[in-house]
Amino acid sequence: YEYGLLGGCAIDATGRSLPDETLDLCRRSDAILFGAAGGPKWDNVAPAERPERALARLRKEFDLYVNLRPIRGRKSLAPTLPLKDRLIGEGIDFLIIRELAGGLYYGEPRGVYQDADGLRGVNTMVYTEREVERVVRQAFELARNRRKKVTSVDKENMLEASRVWRQVTLRVHKEFPDVELDHLLIDACAYIMILDPSRFDVLVTGNIFGDILSDEAAVIVGSLGMLPSASWGDGKPALYEPVHGTAPDIAGKGLANPCAAILSAALMLRHSFGLEAEAKSIEAAVDAAIDAGLRTGDIKQDGMKTVGTAEMTNAILSNL
Ligand code: IPM
Ligand code: MN
Repeated sequence: YEYGLLGGCAIDATGRSLPDETLDLCRRSDAILFGAAGGPKWDNVAPAERPERALARLRKEFDLYVNLRPIRGRKSLAPTLPLKDRLIGEGIDFLIIRELAGGLYYGEPRGVYQDADGLRGVNTMVYTEREVERVVRQAFELARNRRKKVTSVDKENMLEASRVWRQVTLRVHKEFPDVELDHLLIDACAYIMILDPSRFDVLVTGNIFGDILSDEAAVIVGSLGMLPSASWGDGKPALYEPVHGTAPDIAGKGLANPCAAILSAALMLRHSFGLEAEAKSIEAAVDAAIDAGLRTGDIKQDGMKTVGTAEMTNAILSNL
């Protein structure tokens, strides 16, 4: 392990949210295990130096176009959920594949302009055939090792970028006749995910839709504090990070749920280093801590022990 600064701490130390030193370190690495970026202290820095933009630059720099976000229900967390056992009992287990290197986050033109009507904020949602093809192909391949069902999510009734998305997805699907494909519009998908989350196996979608749906999925299985993610492209390095960002309201208090970060390390062992048994044992150690009734604040439950970051981590370590 070597450590690098990115985001707010990097701005404080160097004036830049993504110092060259950090970028070079990432280039020399097989994998990047990332924490989180952002916070009110840096909300007013120049847009290009915002902590979140440093993360976006890292994703773009290494062309990390696949972002895998596994969504798995745990029965023992069912009582803490807004939707309760009815859903979790049916077994929620799906993958969100979020396109991560294109779409609305990166499209040009972008900017804030001044014109006759006052300020004008512009972003562009754009998808090329190549960008769609490479990410949906990975979704089909991942589905092959699962329940062989891909749901592609777009807004084809309104957006040209989505029309290309759907057309290309249909074409790539022809190479995967053993995998079932269906399409949902993003709004309908948000609705159905609450009603019937167990219908999903592999869900593939664009950058902004995937960002939003993964927070929704987090509520269905417990909390953002539980969700890990893995991002990769065709080269090195891959990036592993919790789906959550920072939680400025509890920063420094020792209260954050460490599970998403720990589970991200498990994904790193699995996907970058081929250490499947080690990854599984970390995942089992997290499950055992949850099943034993340990709860951080985000998943707290009557009659169970509310613990802080260190105690949760120690419990997981002792299960290993
Ligand atoms: C995520 C996060 C990031 C995103 C933020 C921190 C830039 O919300 O990974 O889902 O929007 O991609
Ligand atoms: Mn997000």
